[in-house]
Amino acid sequence: MHKVIFDTDPGIDDAMALLFLHQHPDIDLIGITTVFGNASIETTTRNALYLKQVWNIDAPVARGLGETFDPSRPHVNWPTEIHGHDGLGNIGVPERIDLDVDPRPAHRFIIETVRANPGEVTIVAVGRMTNLALALREDPDVAVLVKDVVIMGGAFDVPGNITPAAEANIHGDPDAADVTMMAPWPVTVVGLDVTTKTVMTRKLMAEIAAAGGERAALLARISQFYIEFYEQHVEDGMVVHDSCACVYVVAPHLFETRRGAIRVVCGGIADGQTIQKPDSQSFPESPWDDLPSQNVCVGVDADAVLALIAETIGRAA
Ligand code: BDR
Ligand code: CA
Repeated sequence: MHKVIFDTDPGIDDAMALLFLHQHPDIDLIGITTVFGNASIETTTRNALYLKQVWNIDAPVARGLGETFDPSRPHVNWPTEIHGHDGLGNIGVPERIDLDVDPRPAHRFIIETVRANPGEVTIVAVGRMTNLALALREDPDVAVLVKDVVIMGGAFDVPGNITPAAEANIHGDPDAADVTMMAPWPVTVVGLDVTTKTVMTRKLMAEIAAAGGERAALLARISQFYIEFYEQHVEDGMVVHDSCACVYVVAPHLFETRRGAIRVVCGGIADGQTIQKPDSQSFPESPWDDLPSQNVCVGVDADAVLALIAETIGRAA
């Protein structure tokens, strides 16, 4: 059983990923921590509480701080054209959800939960890496107590999606991502190199909705807005970025990985670019030296990933 903390900015593809984690039999979802990105921290936290309520999820929700690791960074606008004004496809999420958030800020929730379960917790982070970097700053020793960190973010051998150089989750807080990649915990990055190949068609989404009862039907309703946005990028359907990271936790054999230290460009025209120094190559002295070797996903069996997502979230509760 994988004990998972899900660090997320719901977000439409985040919602699918949350349902996957909630319904997969080998995953014990022990916490949801929120970060801003697809919408403000107020909205992403409200959405996490909403999904917890409607999908009957036990895990507590802890709210992130709502500013970048370096607070002087300029604000990047919310991507309302992708996720809607409510972050969940404009389905009309209630303004207030009658559930409490955990009293701890997200990064402290991460620290205390990892310390209570040493060597057992996998952190799946599918938004900006702000909470992870704050946890490392407050308690650097926590890194060696984490089992695994799986991240959706970055673009290594392909262009970015928010600039030609950068993917949105990394671009939203590059300093936090750089700290996260350099820490002595095992990181696997599931970035655009593989997620953009993993496209759920409208037909598959409709089949999941038909098979999966009310939970899947709500997910399908939330996803329509995102599918319409993706019409300009893919022939049919939606790129399931965040679910790919969740699938990696239970089925890493569906991905091909490359090992090497990772750095993130902070500032300039390539702000947020992720660059790996493959272990198989040597260079003169560089800022990648003496850093932990991390995993970057460079290949994916997209059909098998989609089949596993469909089987998991298409399971009626
Ligand atoms: C990432 O950015 C967000 O819009 C998505 O939820 C995903 O985590 C893709 O670049
Ligand atoms: Ca996300």
